[in-house]
Amino acid sequence: SFFEVILERLASGDFNDYFSRNNLDVELVDKLSITLNSINQVLEEAEKMQYKSTYVKKWLDDLKDAIYEADQISDEIATDAQLNKLKAESDSVTSTTFESRIKELIGMLELLVKQKEILGLKGGARCASNEGGISWKSLKKLPTTLPEDKANLHGRDVEKEEIIKFLLSDNDGSNRVPVLSIVGLGGMGKTTLAEVVYNDYRIKEHFERIAWVYVSEYFDVVRLTNEIISRLDHSLADGEDLNQLQQELHQRITGKKYLLVLDDVRNGKDECWEQLLLPFNHGSFGSKIIVTTRDKEVASVMKSAQILHLKQLEESDCWSLFVRHAFYGKNVSEYPNLESIGRKIVDKCGGSPLAVRTLGDLLRMKFSADEW
Ligand SMILES: Nc1ncnc2c1ncn2[C@@H]1O[C@H](COP(=O)(O)OP(=O)(O)O)[C@@H](O)[C@H]1O
Ligand SMILES: [Mg+2]
Repeated sequence: SFFEVILERLASGDFNDYFSRNNLDVELVDKLSITLNSINQVLEEAEKMQYKSTYVKKWLDDLKDAIYEADQISDEIATDAQLNKLKAESDSVTSTTFESRIKELIGMLELLVKQKEILGLKGGARCASNEGGISWKSLKKLPTTLPEDKANLHGRDVEKEEIIKFLLSDNDGSNRVPVLSIVGLGGMGKTTLAEVVYNDYRIKEHFERIAWVYVSEYFDVVRLTNEIISRLDHSLADGEDLNQLQQELHQRITGKKYLLVLDDVRNGKDECWEQLLLPFNHGSFGSKIIVTTRDKEVASVMKSAQILHLKQLEESDCWSLFVRHAFYGKNVSEYPNLESIGRKIVDKCGGSPLAVRTLGDLLRMKFSADEW
């Protein structure tokens, strides 16, 4: 592949010769091959993964640009080296541009290496997933977007009580654990609402075990099962064999009343969920599952017992949320002209708490009508 050709060239020593002959920083060549090498290790995985994850696809596209530039530079250096042999002295202008281009390239690659970690591309022969062969372990480190201050929920009282009522209700005796899906556009406040419920004292009292798992786009049954076990049991699960993990999970939850929150579910594939929820469908003992998702389809695939369509936040709640963020620590009544502009801004947010909050934060530091 492209990659190997470049790595070979770098390893051949021609680069090093060229660099030292032209009084350039030889360390750059080493650095370049090290970064390239660490990316090369996950390349195959990334290629398999790109069809499932748009993030990985984007990463690969950026990587291709970087590789293209690396190839370009190595061609130009090879040509210049040839010419150098003919010329009495080398052209220092071309060689210093190589130096700065390589520096820039290394910067680009280092960024990609960092992203590789965030994406969870791990390298090596390990195969934690039964589909695709990538371990998404490091994704555990990605924080779930939790609201900063849970006490400050604006509105949503009716919805909150509706969910709590569902959670405290008896199960109908079937083996399936009842699922409640919170469905709504991104930024509508699904995660926030679920968090507030999750932290409610009635819920803490009612369930023996509670677990919050951030699902996101990376659906991997093994990763999710490990994570569910870890969270439910406050222990670290790190298995690779799905069967074994599922048995373990089953053992740990049998006879227990638990609440599982699956936050931000994107994947609506029937068979994926059947597989993941397998250990949960043997006697539910009052246990419940909450799912948050943007996708109505997901709610039906999960065979939700109840679906809560999260609509726009009410106007008065939007306003109070906006005030809290925009006027933090200040008194709104002291800024009558800003209030009327502020109300118009909030109107434009279409009831999305995320939009309201973001604009509020943005405007917080600005206290003249012009800036608003
Ligand atoms: N009812 C609410 N009161 C106060 N802030 C809220 C409310 N709902 C959402 N937010 C804020 O809006 C942002 C987006 O909410 P989030 O729950 O992450 O949306 P979703 O999960 O639907 O994408 C968060 O920063 C959160 O703090
Ligand atoms: Mg969310």
